[in-house]
Amino acid sequence: MEPDNPFIYGELVGAGAFADREGERKRLTRDLAAGQKVFLISPRRYGKSSLIRDVLRGLARQKILTVEVTVAASSSYVGFLESYAQALIAADTPASRLRRWAGELLQVVRPELRFDTDAVGQSRFALAFPSVRTTRDTARLATEVFALPGRIAAARKQRLAIALDEFQAIASFNGGSVEHALRAAVQDQRAVGYVFAGSEPSLMERMLGPRRPFYKAGPVMRLEKINEALFADFLDGRFVASGMRPEEGLGAAIVDLAANVPYDVQRLAHETWDDIKAAGRKTVGLADLHATLTRLLGEQHTICEESWLRLTLPQRAVLRALVLEDGRELLSADVRMRHRLPGASTVQAALAALVRQDIVMKEGGRYVASDSLYREWVARQTF
Ligand SMILES: Nc1ncnc2c1ncn2[C@@H]1O[C@H](COP(=O)(O)OP(=O)(O)OP(=O)(O)O)[C@@H](O)[C@H]1O
Ligand SMILES: [Mg+2]
Repeated sequence: MEPDNPFIYGELVGAGAFADREGERKRLTRDLAAGQKVFLISPRRYGKSSLIRDVLRGLARQKILTVEVTVAASSSYVGFLESYAQALIAADTPASRLRRWAGELLQVVRPELRFDTDAVGQSRFALAFPSVRTTRDTARLATEVFALPGRIAAARKQRLAIALDEFQAIASFNGGSVEHALRAAVQDQRAVGYVFAGSEPSLMERMLGPRRPFYKAGPVMRLEKINEALFADFLDGRFVASGMRPEEGLGAAIVDLAANVPYDVQRLAHETWDDIKAAGRKTVGLADLHATLTRLLGEQHTICEESWLRLTLPQRAVLRALVLEDGRELLSADVRMRHRLPGASTVQAALAALVRQDIVMKEGGRYVASDSLYREWVARQTF
C-alpha cells in the first residue's frame, strides 16, 4: 500500500503524528486524574487542543469520564450552558438512557430534549433551555449546570476530566459573574479535574490575576514551542518512515521557515511531501522546500493581499518593518527612520491593532508575524 502523508495540519493530531510534549502530557494527565483545576495557556496553533485530546483519550482508558467543550463555539452564555450540559449528559450515556438521565440530573431548570437522525442515520441528541430568558433565569441555570459534573461523579461513582477549550471566550459572556459562578462550583468538586485552555495569553493571564475569581484556583501550564532539534528530527524521521530520503538539514530548515509554530511546521512538511510524491521522487532537498513555499505563496496570494488591503497605512508600514527587522527595536528612532515609520506612539497603536487582529503576536520581547506564509508574502510582495 502507498504510504499516506505523515504530516497533519488543520486538525487535531493523533498519537502517531505527535512530536514531543512528553512532560506536558504526563503532567496534565496526572493533574486531571487527581481532580486539579489546570489552566493551559499558549498562543494560537501551538498544540493545546491536540494535547488535550490526547490526554483525555488516555484518561478515558483509565475509566475516567471525559468531556470536551469549546467555549468559543457558543454565541451566547445560554448557548454555552446548553452545549456544556448536553456534553455532560451525553458523555458515555447510551441513547436509550439519555431522557431519564437528563431528567434525573436537571431538576431545577427543565431542558427541552430533541432526538434527531441526521443524513447518515446517526441519532443526535440536542438539549435546550427555551424557558430561560432573564438574567436571573440564566444565573439559576448556570448554578445548576456548573454543579452537574459533581452530581455525575457521585451518581456514577466515577471520576471526571473536563476540558473547556478556548476558555478566554468566557470573558465575553457578561464577564465576572460567569467566572464567579464557575469557580465557586468547581472548587468543591474533588472528583472532577478541569483544564481551562486559552489561546489569548494576555486575556487568560488577566483572568488569573489578583481580585479575579480564578486567582490561584490551580496550576498554570504555559505551553511553549516544541524543542527545535526534537521537532526537526521528528520531521526527518517521518520522511524516512514514509519512504523518502530527506537531505541533511531538511527538518531543521522546515522548522526554521515555519518559525517553529507547530501548525506552520506541519503545513510546510505536509505540502512538501505532497509535491515530492506527485513528482514521483524519493529524495527531498532544500530546493524542494523552497519550491513548495513558492507554490503556497502563489495559492495564498489573494488571501494575503486582502488582509494587507484591510490594514491602515501605518499598520502596513509597521508590519513590513516588523518582518524585515525580525520584530526588534521597532520603536527606536533608527528603525523608524529606516522604514519611514510614524512617531513612536502611532507605531505602538499600530502594533496593538495588529495583535488584536491576530496578525502579529508577542513572543518574548519581540513581535512576530503569526502566520509564516503571510510573513514571507509581506517580505516578498510589499514595498
Ligand atoms: N505535539 C505536536 N506534534 C506535531 N504537530 C503538532 C503538535 N501539536 C500541534 N501540532 C500541529 O499544530 C496544529 C494545531 O494544533 P492545535 O489545534 O492542537 O493547536 P491549538 O493550540 O489548540 O490552536 P488554537 O489556538 O488555534 O486552537 C495541529 O493541527 C498540528 O498540525
Ligand atoms: Mg485549539
